[in-house]
Order: sequence, then structure tokens, then C-alpha cells
Amino acid sequence: MKRILVTGGAGYIGSHTVVCLQESGYDVVVVDNLSNSNREVLDGIEAITGCRPAFEQADCLDQTALREVFRKYAPIDAVIHFAASKAVGESVEKPLLYYRNNIGSLLNVLDLMREAGTGHIVFSSSCTVYGQPDADHLPVDETAPIQKALSPYGHTKQVNEDILYAAAKADKSLRATILRYFNPIGAHPSGKIGELPNGVPNNLLPFVMQTAAGLREKLRVFGDDYNTPDGSCIRDYIYVMDLARAHVKAVERMLTTPAPAEYSYPDAERVEVFNLGTGRGLSVLEIVRTFIEVTGQHIPYEITSRREGDIEQVWASPEKANRVLGWRADTPVEDILLSAWNWEKHLRGIR
Ligand code: UFG
Repeated sequence: MKRILVTGGAGYIGSHTVVCLQESGYDVVVVDNLSNSNREVLDGIEAITGCRPAFEQADCLDQTALREVFRKYAPIDAVIHFAASKAVGESVEKPLLYYRNNIGSLLNVLDLMREAGTGHIVFSSSCTVYGQPDADHLPVDETAPIQKALSPYGHTKQVNEDILYAAAKADKSLRATILRYFNPIGAHPSGKIGELPNGVPNNLLPFVMQTAAGLREKLRVFGDDYNTPDGSCIRDYIYVMDLARAHVKAVERMLTTPAPAEYSYPDAERVEVFNLGTGRGLSVLEIVRTFIEVTGQHIPYEITSRREGDIEQVWASPEKANRVLGWRADTPVEDILLSAWNWEKHLRGIR
């Protein structure tokens, strides 16, 4: 049985990926500092799969603690590195924290992988690396130019990608897969795990859910004067379970197939990059209307001014991931929104 170390495995995307890994027959070890999650997530995973993953509470910045995890669970066949700070706005206020956490963690993980002889890593990147693609790069594929990051958070993703390229170039025993996520939403269909936003949500879906649950008075739609069909911003919303399955495919590819003989941009020797999205863009207003339609819940909302730093429209070409990983994100948005509402009801004790 192959063993996978999942950093940030108690987090939103991490926990759903742990479920998919276990269901695909992997032995999973979770490392998480629980800074933005809690131990109950492990109960949720166990309730779904019938198997509690090994868990170590440790910070990836703590090299001594992390070394001990690699030693205790040796041999580790691959690492999926989710652990990172992820709030765009907070990264503008606390840039040093973001650079330290997000870059320091990857450096430690790579150092310890080398020490432990672990040769495979999957890294969580983001479509934020593309900024606002030109019209002729929509849908955006992996060859679209990387643009100057709009936030320290986005910059850490770009720098971490560069670190992986350089590390794999220098160390022939290292192979990496960079996954650029579009906008992950929804929850496991069981309603036992899902997103746990901290404080007032910044992201659209958690805010919609909390408005439907009565925790927030109304949703603010940030702008309806964009150059899009209904004037609100467009994103590629991908179901978190579809996203989780892509990680299993990425791990499987590295563990079972030889590295490709030829690479072309942005892939580099032993590093492959994939966009993970549905290929379909939806506007903020389409999301809100569809949610109201499928759940029958009331969502009071008002149109307000634009949010600084927002991208107008971006959606993925997932063609490469479809073809090379044999993976597709095909869950209907109606089902995704219902799963998110199901989780919210579970959290709030709504029947
Ligand atoms: N939005 C609202 N009201 C809200 C929250 C969001 O109208 O209360 C709108 C935003 O203006 C945007 C859309 O909903 O048009 C999606 O916003 P999110 O904050 O959910 O997602 P973003 O696309 O802004 O950001 C996400 C991730 C980031 C990542 C980025 C990459 O949260 O981590 O995608 O583009 F960097």
C-alpha cells in the first residue's frame, strides 16, 4: 500500500482529497497545524471512509517536528502539499507572514523529502498566477503568460512554482506536479466535511451559504458594470470532490508512469502543470440565481461597487488535465450548490 503524506490534510481541499485517496486504496498521513481547521474534520473523514487517517499536529515551518513525521512514517511515497495561508486580503496586510509561511513550508517539505528519499510532490497552485488573461487566452490554458501577482498570496504561488522547477532541475530524483486550481466550491455529498471559513467569509460561496442560513443580512455583489453578459465577474467554479479526484490522478501518474521524455512550456524536466477547472465560466449573479432556484432559499443581495483587485473574468481550459490525467470535472453546478447547502445545514443544525 502506497503511503501519501498530506500537509494541510485537515483543511478544505485537503480533507476531501484525503477521502478520495483512502477510497482509492492509499495509506494517508495528515500533517496539519490546525490554524484554519480542527480535529473534528478527522472524525468527518473517518465517518465517510471508515478509516481514520494517521494525524500529526505540526507546522510545516517546524523542521524538527516535520522531520520526525517523515521518520515515523517512512517510507513515504509522495507528498501532497496543501498547507498554506490563503486569504488574499490578509496577505496584503501581512505580507511577511505569507511569504514566511508559504515559501518556508515548501522549502522544508522539499528538504525533508530529499533526506527521506521521497521523490514525488503534488503542489497546490492557483489560477491567480495568470492574473486577467487577454481575451485570446480565454479559456486559459497552461501556456498563458504568468502575470505580475496582485497580492503577496498570489506571488507566493508563483515563487513556489519556480522553486519546484529549480529543485527538480537540480535533483534528478524529484518529480513534481503543479495543480492550478480555479474556484473550488461545494462539500462532500455526505455533509460530513466541507469548508470551514474563519470569521466573515471573503469567498463568494461561503458568504452565500451564511446569508441563506441567516448569519449574514445580505450578500454584496461586487460590481455589475464589468464587461460580461450580466455585468458581474465570471469564474470557473469547480466541485471540491472533482478537484480532490484530480489529486489522486496526479499521484497515480507520478507513481506508476515514467516521466515524459519530452516537455514543453510550462512543463519542465520532471515538472508537469495542470489547470483544474470545468471549462465553463459562471457569473456571480448566475451562481446566486441558481442557488436560489435549486434550494428555494432566499438570498437578499445588493449590488455594490467593485472589490479592489478582482479579476473580471477567467475560466479554464482543462483540456490537458482531461487528456493527460484522464480526469474531468463534470458535476452539475446544481448538485454542487446543493452539496454546499447540505453542509451548511449540517454546520448550523438546520433541518
Ligand atoms: N464576490 C461577491 N461578493 C462576495 C464575495 C465574492 O460578489 O461577498 C465575487 C467576487 O467579486 C468575485 C467572485 O465573487 O467576482 C468570486 O470571488 P471569491 O472571493 O470567491 O474568489 P476569487 O476568484 O476572488 O479568489 C479565488 C481564491 C483565491 C485565488 C483566486 C484566484 O479565493 O485564493 O481565486 O483567482 F487566488
